[in-house]
Parts: sequence; C-alpha cells; structure tokens
Amino acid sequence: MCGIVGAASARNIVPVLLEGLRRLEYRGYDSCGIAMVAKGELRRARSVQRVADLSAQISQDGLGAFTAVAHTRWATHGAPVTSNAHPHFSRGEVAVVHNGIIENYEEIRTELQREGYIFESATDTEVIVHLVHSLYGGDLFEAVKKAVARFRGAYAIGVLSKSEPGRVVGARLGSPLVLGLGVDENFIASDAMALAGITDQIVFLQEGDIVDIRPDRVTIADRTGATVQRPVKTVQIASGTVDLGPYRHYMQKEIFEQPRAIADTLEQVGGIDATLFGEAAPAIFDKVDRVLILACGTSYYAGCVARYWLEAIAGIPTTVEIASEYRYRVSVPHPATLVTVISQSGETADTLAALKHAQSLGMTSTLAICNVATSAMVRESALQFLTRAGVEIGVASTKAFTTQLVALYLLANVLAKKRGRLSKENEVGVIKSLRHLPAAVQSVLALEPHVIAWSESFARKEDALFLGRGLHYPIALEGALKLKEISYIHAEAYPAGELKHGPLALVTEDMPVITVAPNDVLLEKLKSNMMEVRARGGQLYVCADADTRIAGGEGIHVIRLPEHYGDLSPILHVIPLQLLAYHTALARGTDVDKPRNLAKSVTVE
Ligand code: M6R
Repeated sequence: MCGIVGAASARNIVPVLLEGLRRLEYRGYDSCGIAMVAKGELRRARSVQRVADLSAQISQDGLGAFTAVAHTRWATHGAPVTSNAHPHFSRGEVAVVHNGIIENYEEIRTELQREGYIFESATDTEVIVHLVHSLYGGDLFEAVKKAVARFRGAYAIGVLSKSEPGRVVGARLGSPLVLGLGVDENFIASDAMALAGITDQIVFLQEGDIVDIRPDRVTIADRTGATVQRPVKTVQIASGTVDLGPYRHYMQKEIFEQPRAIADTLEQVGGIDATLFGEAAPAIFDKVDRVLILACGTSYYAGCVARYWLEAIAGIPTTVEIASEYRYRVSVPHPATLVTVISQSGETADTLAALKHAQSLGMTSTLAICNVATSAMVRESALQFLTRAGVEIGVASTKAFTTQLVALYLLANVLAKKRGRLSKENEVGVIKSLRHLPAAVQSVLALEPHVIAWSESFARKEDALFLGRGLHYPIALEGALKLKEISYIHAEAYPAGELKHGPLALVTEDMPVITVAPNDVLLEKLKSNMMEVRARGGQLYVCADADTRIAGGEGIHVIRLPEHYGDLSPILHVIPLQLLAYHTALARGTDVDKPRNLAKSVTVE
C-alpha cells in the first residue's frame, strides 16, 4: 500500500530514499514518485511503473538533493496514472506526499478553487498541498499545523517548501509515520523498514503529532501545537529485501518456509504457560470470561478457526468479527472481554481502528497476535504474542496464517488450563503435537506434484466452490480467498451442510468443488454432501486424510494427506489449498506476488 520516506540531510539523499522505496515495494503500489528541493527549485519525478523506472529517470535527469520526500501510491481516489501519482505540487512552491484518505476533501477543494487554486489530479491529496500553500507565511511547520487542523480522515504526510530547503515537515493521524534519527540527517517514513540499514534510532510518532526535521535537529509538536518529547527506540529492523533463493515467487518460498516459521514460533514455547502472551497475561486472563476476535482477510479466517478451539477446548464464549464492520457497529461491550486482534502486519487500518474502538468502549484487556514487533497493534495492546513467520512479502498471506493458528491454539490451551479444563496428560499431548507439527507440514508439502496436476485443469476454470465443515469451514474460506486473489478465478466457500440451501444450484459438470475432508466427527455428514455434488455432475477435488478411506473415481479426484492430525488438522489442510492457488495462478500467468488491485499492508480504510 502507500509508502512514504523523506529526509533532510547534509548529503545527496535521493539514492537513499529510492532504496527506502524499494524496501516498501513488497507492500504493493501502482505508481511512485519523489520530490526534492534542488538549486532553489522544486523538482519531481513520477512513474506508473516500478521504483527501478523512477531511479532510471532520476539518473537520466541527473537529479540529486539534500532534502526530499518519496512515495509509493496505491490508488484510492483517482486512477493509477502519472497525474495522480505523488508528490503533488502547489504552484511549484510546496510539495506533498500522503498516505491515508482526507474524507472532507471535497469541501476543502471547493474553498480552494474559489481562492483560485487549479487542481490537476483526481486525488484527495491535492487539497493538502494547496491548503498548506494557502496558509504558508514563511514557516512550513506552522502552515502544516494549521492545515492538519482542517482534515477529517486519516493521514501521514511529508511536506517540502522550495523557500525552505533543508526542512521537511511530517504529520500523522490514523496512518503510521515514524521519525528516524541519523547523524547530520533525519528521516520520516511510514514504516521503519524503509530505514533498514540507515538508522535504527526510531521515534514512533503519536496520533496527531507534527514533526519538523532538519539535518541537525528535530522538533515534535502534539495536536495542540505544543512541543513534546517522544521516546527514541533502538529498533532492529528486518530488511524487506529477502532473497528468493531457488524459488520463483515469494509466495512459493513462503509456503515452503512454513515448517521453519512454525518451529521458530514454537521456540519460545516451553509449556502451556500464560506468560507466553506477556508478563501481565496471568492476571488479565483471570479477569476475562469471553473473547472477541477482530481481524481482516486471512487473519480473520485464523480467528474463525480459533473460535472453534476457544469454545471447544477452553469453554470460553468467543465471537469473531470483521474489523471494518465491528468498528462502525453499535455493539454491546463487556468489560471482561479479551479483545484479540490478529494481524500479520500489525498496521491494517481497519483492525487498528477496531482495537481502538473496543478500547474506547472500556474493554482494556487487549491482546495482539502479530508478526511485526514494532507495529502499532503490538504497541497499542496490553498483551502480545509475536509470531515468528519472518518477513512475508507475497500479497497472499501463507506462513503468517499458519503461525497465527499456532498462537491461537496456544491461547485456547492456556485459557483451558486457567479454567481447569486441561489435564496434565492433555497438556503433554498438546506440546507433543505442536513439536511434531513442522514435520507434519513438511509431509503435506511433499504432495505438491499432485496439486500441480490438479492446477492444470483449474487454470481453465472461471468459478470454483470450496466446501468444509466445522473447524475446516474457515479453511475452505481461506482456500477460496487464496485462489481468487492470485488467480482471479471466482471462488466461494460454504459450510458443506449449507449447499442444499442454495449454492447447489451452481453445480454442473463445469464446477470444480474442492472439499476439505479430515477424518473428524463430521466425516460421514461431509461424505453425504459430496454425494449431493456428484449427483449433479459436479467435479470433486478432495483433500482427504489417509484414514478417511475416500476413494478416487469418476468425477472424484483425491489427494491423500497423512492420517488425521486432531485439533491441529486445519494447519495441515490449508497447505494443499495454498499450493493449488499458487500453481493455478502460475498456469494462468498472473503476477503472483503482486496481484492486481491488491496491496500487502492495507493502511487505509
Ligand atoms: O496484515 P493483516 O494480517 O492485518 O492483513 C489482513 C488482510 O489484509 C490480509 O490477510 C489479506 O486478506 C491477504 N491478502 C490475504 O492473503
């Protein structure tokens, strides 16, 4: 999604900022640009191609500067064309880059047009630059302070003025922005990762902060305009530029990294112990009597699996809500709720806002299950569990999902133990199953050639149905999401028992029906649902545990997983579905790691 990196420095900072943009590329973007103060003029370069193309333009034009702001854009208002790419200029005097959405931009634009400002883009961002220009009286910091007071919505911005070379002003509300402190140079960035290898001295700006950076000093003001100090943290920043190794795509690499990612996540686990979720967890877990899970996309489906575990294992009432719905719904808060946010990035705007909404309703027992230690969600939550999936670059989330499931299974067992529902014997069994999990995942990965064979016929389809039951219904949902987001095949998932209530009407001999078939208590019911599909000519593609004894035959294609893996079975059953999506997308020639219209980290509503 959108990314910002900017600097005021005593050296030519342009190559450093371009490298920063490259580190943010994996998040997904459709255009990029950079503005700088060079020889008393504002200069810019913009591209609707990759950052490499922007770099080539810069070298060709011989551009360099001590002060600059750079941006990757993921279109919200206005198509991904050069005129909408950031930075935006006002009368060649002020430049702005922006992440987020200014909700009241139409009203501000009308006012500015009356004042004679000409708008050249279809973006909401352009109101920021003209408003700052209209308020500018020789001090950029003061002009930005006045301008941000007018905005409703979310923003992280970086602003330059040609009259003040050596100065960059940033501000944030609802969208992340950090300050990076260097020697004879200081930076702003939407993600500390953009500054990997440049500085590890990071200030996480707070909501409403405005920052004035120069090469030799920084000043931060809070939303009232008063100067404030914010803590400087030394942050070990994992670089986003990860080698592909022998793999063709990051998604493929990340699928195959799952045994390692799960093992790394389990490294911190000595036993079923509440402190895995933080020092304060034992006391907080004693107070809670229900769980509310908030998340989006794949992380939401991890939450849906967790609901089955939390209720069945820990006996704790659990609801799971899509964060973007929860944040605007009138709900009934309960103070004894453990509000659990699940997120790979920890920066997803909807999930972060849902967390803050729950807090504002008085629910302060909060837990973040997250893959990024420095993220906003981790900082905002009372408790944390960090998955150790490592940097996930493919837009389609894979290893983040399976490590989230590991964390959630631990949570269910920790709460079960607290509530006297986990015997010593079961505790030993849980730890044993978890320890063996990486090897079990490895053995499912070995089924890849069978999945490749399926993917050849899937690549010719335009629709697919996924079926699952119970704990594996969310796995069917996740399989459908993976297939649609990277292969662009329309895919839907249903609880298999729901077929006859409507979706069965879609089943013909052209409809592949992927069925998740573990050997659990619902197997016989599932087999009846499969027969309903076959009776209508539907083609069944079944991922079945070896001990289900489901046989292949006319219209029934079977991939056999190892024997049933009990409660942890969803972690094994999602693997063939990830591989199916990957190989189908490969056969269709789509951009697997950067599928159209999508971004890795969704930092706007
Ligand atoms: O970083 P998060 O886990 O909060 O992201 C949530 C979703 O945006 C994400 O899972 C998305 O659905 C993925 N593209 C799915 O593969």
